[in-house]
Amino acid sequence: MERQSEGRRQTERRQFLRGSLLAIALSPITSYSKAATLDSVTHSGGSLANSPTRTLGTGKASLEVSALGLGCMGMSYHRSFVPDKKAMIALLRKATELGVNFFDTAEAYGPLVNEELVGEALAPVRDQVIIATKFGFKEGQTSLGLDSRPQTIRKVVEQSLKRLRTDRIDLLYQHRVDPAVPIEEVAGTVKELIQAGKVTHFGLSEASAATIRKAHAVQPLTALESEYSLMTRQPENDVIPLCEELGIGFVPYSPLSRAMLTGYLNERTRYNPNNDNRGILPRYQPKNVLANWPMIEVLADFGNQRGLTAAQVALAWLMAYKPFIVPIPGTTKLAHLQENMGAASYQFLADELTKLTNDLSAIKIVGDRYTGIQAQQTSK
Ligand SMILES: NC(=O)c1ccc[n+]([C@@H]2O[C@H](COP(=O)([O-])OP(=O)(O)OC[C@H]3O[C@@H](n4cnc5c(N)ncnc54)[C@H](OP(=O)(O)O)[C@@H]3O)[C@@H](O)[C@H]2O)c1
Repeated sequence: MERQSEGRRQTERRQFLRGSLLAIALSPITSYSKAATLDSVTHSGGSLANSPTRTLGTGKASLEVSALGLGCMGMSYHRSFVPDKKAMIALLRKATELGVNFFDTAEAYGPLVNEELVGEALAPVRDQVIIATKFGFKEGQTSLGLDSRPQTIRKVVEQSLKRLRTDRIDLLYQHRVDPAVPIEEVAGTVKELIQAGKVTHFGLSEASAATIRKAHAVQPLTALESEYSLMTRQPENDVIPLCEELGIGFVPYSPLSRAMLTGYLNERTRYNPNNDNRGILPRYQPKNVLANWPMIEVLADFGNQRGLTAAQVALAWLMAYKPFIVPIPGTTKLAHLQENMGAASYQFLADELTKLTNDLSAIKIVGDRYTGIQAQQTSK
């Protein structure tokens, strides 16, 4: 690649900030496109801090949120330890002061207790935050199977409203597509809840492109929340392009691949068998953690030259992919929250992004992200 002078690089950086550079940054391996600008990154006067925001969805379905959200699941569920509730309430409130206004929970996290935690923590700042939650499992328990029947959706919404201490859910996702209930019926039920003012925006999680199209035709979707990280890039094939086509936001969950991309996990990491799904997921088994280590090396090498951590590089990369992408990394620690938020202000240069993407894309990812019934419930 041609050597650039410092002046040229500065001009280029300014162009990037104006939202034009990603259009030329692109390696053939990725699907970065002309539309992949940072145009929609603005500074919000409405949030509690002056932080960058992004827009999920379009038209009446649009929702302006902080450029990074906060995944709340691990504060109660699936990440081995459950921290002190008071500490998590303090962390959630601190997050709002730092400029995060987009919080992700679900009936199934706990179950129930995570919504209660989020509701209690955010009640004092309710009008300044966006709360996303999900329905879709029998009695809120993933182990009991799927249930998106209209009467269940209506009942769960009433219960979630109480647990969240609010009169409306800002973004209601179906957690997993239920093959027993046509998606049009699910979308129609959410549409009625929107008309009733109990829900304001609609989303799906781990839905296929065909399901997204059908749902969107009944009730425009604001966001699709699916697993997307440098370890799980399948959404680039069809779901993210479809979101771009239809003007739907994309919310990557497990954007740090459940801590794998931070470098904090290693082959000696032990997961609590009673409260951590990583213990049974193929990708997190010791030999696969080792096999995937080259990913950490590339992220760390890139970050070390630029004062960034591996986690920050992984999050910044996702955000550079499309302007309608809003990752929701989960954390129980203020230091990690601040670190992750720092990723939102990193702007890649064209050549470095291309090289980083090429280096990362050359690494073979070992181990499936899900197994068994969990795998069957995705891409439906
Ligand atoms: N729709 C769905 O089906 C679905 C499925 C899974 C998750 N989600 C949502 O997505 C959110 C995030 O997903 P996730 O928790 O599975 O995975 P993640 O965000 O990729 O990773 C979270 C893990 O990374 C650690 N971590 C975070 N930042 C770190 C940093 N800077 N340095 C070192 N470690 C760091 C956290 O531990 P510490 O607490 O120690 O920081 C935690 O163990 C969840 O909270 C949930 O809201 C949705």
